[in-house]
Amino acid sequence: MKVGIDSEQISRMSERLLNKISTTNEREYVNKFKNKKPHIASLWTGKEAVIKVLGEKSISFLEIEILHDFNGAPYVNLLGRAKQRLAELNLKSIEISITHTKTVATAIVLAQ
Ligand SMILES: CC(C)(COP(=O)(O)OP(=O)(O)OC[C@H]1O[C@@H](n2cnc3c(N)ncnc32)[C@H](O)[C@@H]1OP(=O)(O)O)[C@@H](O)C(=O)NCCC(=O)NCCS
Repeated sequence: MKVGIDSEQISRMSERLLNKISTTNEREYVNKFKNKKPHIASLWTGKEAVIKVLGEKSISFLEIEILHDFNGAPYVNLLGRAKQRLAELNLKSIEISITHTKTVATAIVLAQ
């Protein structure tokens, strides 16, 4: 089992950053909200927490998708090198939970 956690200031988020770190599916989710920054911070912290679990800094943020089910609950979809790395670590599933206050977003990721 491996665990990763990350927090980030929501005020540091921007649309420019969103365009850099997100896939089309992720942008579709974030663009539903009037105030996008907390949701951009969710993506950022989620991806950073996944990278901590995978233990490889060179993995691209675009190979880690944070998506949402019909209830709004986030889940992780790994692509390319990120997916390969999970298998190399003998980990079969990866779970995420995200929270944000007015100022800070935090994500925790657990894989086993
Ligand atoms: C789901 C719920 C617990 C989220 O609580 P909250 O205090 O608004 O959430 P926080 O501010 O701590 O965190 C927001 C993050 O929670 C996550 N989240 C949203 N809905 C979620 C759910 N159903 N389950 C787990 N995580 C959820 C998202 O990642 C969200 O951030 P993001 O949209 O930027 O990715 C709350 O909305 C609730 O109790 N809802 C009623 C029950 C329910 O499931 N309703 C769904 C619609 S019927």
